[in-house]
Amino acid sequence: MGPYPKRVSPAPSWTGWDDTGILAPVDAPEISDLLIAYDPDTLARLPVRRSAVVERLRAAGRPGAARIAARLPARDDVLDEAAVDALLLRVHAELQRLSEEFDQGERVRSVLAPLLDALRAAGAPRPLRVVDVGCGLGYVVRWLAARGGLGPDVELVGCDYNGALIASARAAARDEGLSCRFHVANAFTLREPATVFISTGVIHHFRGDALVAFFREQARAGALAFVHFDIKPTHLSPLGAWIFHQARMREPLSRHDGVLSALRAHAGAALLSAARAGAEGLSSALFDGDIGLFPVLRVMHAVVGVRPDLRAPLVERLGPRGRRLGAFS
Ligand SMILES: C[S@@+](CC[C@H](N)C(=O)[O-])C[C@H]1O[C@@H](n2cnc3c(N)ncnc32)[C@H](O)[C@@H]1O
Repeated sequence: MGPYPKRVSPAPSWTGWDDTGILAPVDAPEISDLLIAYDPDTLARLPVRRSAVVERLRAAGRPGAARIAARLPARDDVLDEAAVDALLLRVHAELQRLSEEFDQGERVRSVLAPLLDALRAAGAPRPLRVVDVGCGLGYVVRWLAARGGLGPDVELVGCDYNGALIASARAAARDEGLSCRFHVANAFTLREPATVFISTGVIHHFRGDALVAFFREQARAGALAFVHFDIKPTHLSPLGAWIFHQARMREPLSRHDGVLSALRAHAGAALLSAARAGAEGLSSALFDGDIGLFPVLRVMHAVVGVRPDLRAPLVERLGPRGRRLGAFS
């Protein structure tokens, strides 16, 4: 069930808090992961039983999340697709506000622009196609198209399984007069393959073997590089996420999934070992950096992968930011 490969969870680590204040397994699913199911070949929507979602959340130790799911409209126990899409659009609009506040466009550009320069210097085939995996409303792609200054040889493409999100991303790009494209598609099986895969806030949805497969599929798709940003777990990030989501989010689902995202965000070492196991032919490193006594000030980190000959040119073009990039595998 859900848009992601089947969850292969190790034994849960009992270090997270349920929304009722009760200790709960960190590897519990987010509500949004359970509300939609797709046929993996055609991406057609499949019916989702509300009682199954409620039961799964209860079994995962998330009674508050189960109550949110139990309130969703359903007919004969099958979730109402239009209502689910409308809810996900509201949730992603709240997520977009968070992306604006955390400057996700500039954050991605600061690594992507030097990477594209390194690819040009290495004679990579043009256009340089940047594909955002799980783009949602396409905020980062639209920001890059409007303000990224990445060059005329760069194509910006956003992909998501969810047609309602993509329709909204397309409408916004049209209104803003932007040169970027959005597809309802699996980002890893596009006819015109990506030069670089990017994502923001997506990789914590992939767990265990599915995370390794996430990287394997990018290498198989022929990408020369990837840059995936996600929440950086620190001892303060769950509290920070809770305060932020209480203050800025209105949808109960946004609040629940946002805090759970911080609790189950992957540590840098886990990202690196999955990237190294999955992305054959690419070297991986963590884009992070120590910020002394205040790790909480660095809310995101990224796992970066490049073809081995691009390592030195990338570090050189990152300039002082190169210090934030760890050792390549
Ligand atoms: C958390 S949401 C979108 C987050 C979005 N990047 C943002 O910052 O607003 C994750 C999305 O990833 C999509 N997704 C997951 N794997 C995908 C894949 N292989 N191709 C396209 N979309 C994918 C799901 O459909 C889901 O809508």
